[in-house]
Amino acid sequence: MRLAINIDHIATLRNARGGKEPDPIEGAKICEEAGAEGIVCHLREDRRHIKDEDVYLLRRTVRTKLDLEMAATDEIVAIALEVKPDLVTFVPERRQELTTEGGLDVQAGKQRLQDVIKTFHQQNIAVSLFVDPVSAQIEASKEIAADFIEIHTGEYADATTERDQRTQLARVQKAARLAKSFGLGVNAGHGLNYLNIVPVIAIQEIDEVSIGHAVISRALVVGLDRAVREMGELVQGR
Ligand code: PXP
Repeated sequence: MRLAINIDHIATLRNARGGKEPDPIEGAKICEEAGAEGIVCHLREDRRHIKDEDVYLLRRTVRTKLDLEMAATDEIVAIALEVKPDLVTFVPERRQELTTEGGLDVQAGKQRLQDVIKTFHQQNIAVSLFVDPVSAQIEASKEIAADFIEIHTGEYADATTERDQRTQLARVQKAARLAKSFGLGVNAGHGLNYLNIVPVIAIQEIDEVSIGHAVISRALVVGLDRAVREMGELVQGR
């Protein structure tokens, strides 16, 4: 199973001060040096974290694989076609949401998605669809020639009882199996962390997990000690 890291939150922190730090491009490089096999970023319509220039720079600097998450709007599609990421992942987008809330309704948006998938395929760019672990959505993804699906693991991650966690995990597993039986690549993500990842690793049909919040949060916790010591050395002359 491959690990791809979503670096959006580095940009969120940068944008809080409107400056250049922390730099998501440098963050992506550190992730790759640490063994990440892909870098994921989401260019949202409201540009709340990743900005256009980040995506262009990432295209030039990412050495592993660049996965651009995006809504299938004309504006973002045009940017993606210029940037040429290795993979585009279509997600539903609502302006008010804190993060992507649910999977795509592939059936409802079939015609539009089919058209944009064709456009990306003409440029040799692979396409993934972020879907809930629901058979009908996976079947629809296959029908419109997606290359990958990304299974939304949010409900699994949010499960509060062991029983519900088991039920949600079984849904993810079933979805992964079905997608694999169709010849689709299988990614998974949303809400995965250092604890709930463990049973997911056992699902052999999942090729890649995409993780952002948990890793960037942990980086702050494990990195804070060193950051304070370094500043202490400067300020206190230690
Ligand atoms: N996959 C998709 C499609 C997402 O929208 C997100 C959140 O940006 C993630 C994975 C990563 O989720 P998290 O930040 O909870 O790890």
